[in-house]
Amino acid sequence: MINQLYDVIHRRRDVRGQFTGAPIAADVLERVLAAAHAAPSVGLSQPWDFILIEDDGVRDTFYQHVRGERDVFAATLEGPDAERFSRIKIDGVRESSLSVVVTYDPDRGSPAVLGRHAIADAGLYSVCLAIQNLWLAATAEQLGVGWVSFYREPFVRELLGIPSHVRPVAWLCLGPVTHLESRPDLERHGWRQRRPWQEAVHQGRWLGA
Ligand SMILES: Cc1cc2nc3c(=O)[nH]c(=O)nc-3n(C[C@H](O)[C@H](O)[C@H](O)COP(=O)(O)O)c2cc1C
Repeated sequence: MINQLYDVIHRRRDVRGQFTGAPIAADVLERVLAAAHAAPSVGLSQPWDFILIEDDGVRDTFYQHVRGERDVFAATLEGPDAERFSRIKIDGVRESSLSVVVTYDPDRGSPAVLGRHAIADAGLYSVCLAIQNLWLAATAEQLGVGWVSFYREPFVRELLGIPSHVRPVAWLCLGPVTHLESRPDLERHGWRQRRPWQEAVHQGRWLGA
């Protein structure tokens, strides 16, 4: 049991290029969404919602927007970084079976959100934990997940009819995959390496990195 958990944690990958487009069985999707909804949340506010998008037209509209934002980022790069980035795929919006947009509603359970009075971001942290639960559950179900953040929030709000006070936190691509790579795409393309976990651990107080 414990080994299975660690196995899923280490096998989880951000997927862009390995989606098959095959359908997701309804019971599998239910388990994955229920796992997301089982996440901890500040004051038990459960500030997340999940918008499921199968429509090709909506997904294509979003994809075109992502392409534009890719160009915006690419324009900030020079030399080897620009060359490396040009080879990196940043989304599987059109190839994946389903898009899941995860949102954050800061008004849910407010004004008395127990534990959020000093740290407003605690609500957002809660949504990210739901996303991680979804990601791990999907991995255990042999599905891939890709997190796309190359978008402007107002664009996604408008596209999906999300109220103005609600934030679209993640556009997730979900679906069956041919396989999960053993190393992150960004490592494989020489963009950045994962640092050893020991470097992230400090004893007693912050010491210069
Ligand atoms: C908040 C967040 C936003 C991300 N946005 C993107 C994105 O827009 N496009 C993309 O290809 N990957 C995106 N990723 C995936 C990361 O690049 C990926 O997690 C990282 O390179 C490590 O790889 P791994 O998840 O396979 O371990 C995002 C991840 C997070 C946590």
